[in-house]
Amino acid sequence: MMEEEAFDVAVSFCHVSKSFKGFGGQVFHALNDVSFDVGKGEFCILAGRNGSGKSLLMSIAGGLVRPDSGNVAFPCENDSRNATGKSIGMVFQNVRESILGDTALDDVLLSLGIRDRKMRNPKEIAMSLLEDAGLKGKENRPSHALSSGEGRRLLAASVLALGRDVIFFDEPYSNLDYPGVREMNRMIARLKDEGRTIVLITHELEKCLGLADKLFVLDNGVLVYSGNPEGALGSLNKWGIREPEVAAKGIKSLVWL
Ligand SMILES: Nc1ncnc2c1ncn2[C@@H]1O[C@H](COP(=O)(O)OP(=O)(O)OP(=O)(O)O)[C@@H](O)[C@H]1O
Ligand SMILES: [Mg+2]
Repeated sequence: MMEEEAFDVAVSFCHVSKSFKGFGGQVFHALNDVSFDVGKGEFCILAGRNGSGKSLLMSIAGGLVRPDSGNVAFPCENDSRNATGKSIGMVFQNVRESILGDTALDDVLLSLGIRDRKMRNPKEIAMSLLEDAGLKGKENRPSHALSSGEGRRLLAASVLALGRDVIFFDEPYSNLDYPGVREMNRMIARLKDEGRTIVLITHELEKCLGLADKLFVLDNGVLVYSGNPEGALGSLNKWGIREPEVAAKGIKSLVWL
């Protein structure tokens, strides 16, 4: 018998439900009893059509929205919650609202300051994080002038500066051109190699499925798929996700790199 691989759970969604009331008083179940585990160091894709509950689930994981019932646990953490009290890093789709520094360098320095006000060489660390994010030479640009892709990579650098090991990317490819998607993916692939836990929210599977260890699919607030990416092929259309064309090279070639 094969020995089971040890599986440390980084994020555990346990029976998470959330409803909203419309103006007419009717109840809308945005998330319905969603349970799944994200393993430490795993690269997971959370897919689903518009309105299926993906961003809401991220907001619940980040503590921005309280579920009606159920909870999100971080079993790998003991007392490591940092000054901001949140356990995951979130790279939002709309980066403009999340960038706080006047320049790219300032933004990363702010995050480092939140993590540890007495850090010895913050500028050096910030410059290295910016370089990893492909922003070398752009550290002094006004942050509002960064392009969509640059802004998103800056957010990721700042999230890393905060010391978050679990990072959610919400629709990281939106508005990005081909080189922008490739830059984004190179950064994500590097984070994966470093052992970070990543949850990437998207419905554009052809751009990233080849990198994924796991795929989760939400439809109408219900988790309809949880497992390896291969197992979902053939069923994706019915959940409103475009079926990627898997050529002879196999599923691992489904990535823009
Ligand atoms: N604060 C809120 N009040 C009322 N309804 C909400 C609220 N937040 C989310 N919803 C509803 O919950 C559902 C899921 O929203 P969510 O933003 O998670 O979708 P999504 O899967 O991220 O979609 P998209 O692909 O368009 O980003 C939507 O129908 C949305 O209108
Ligand atoms: Mg969303």
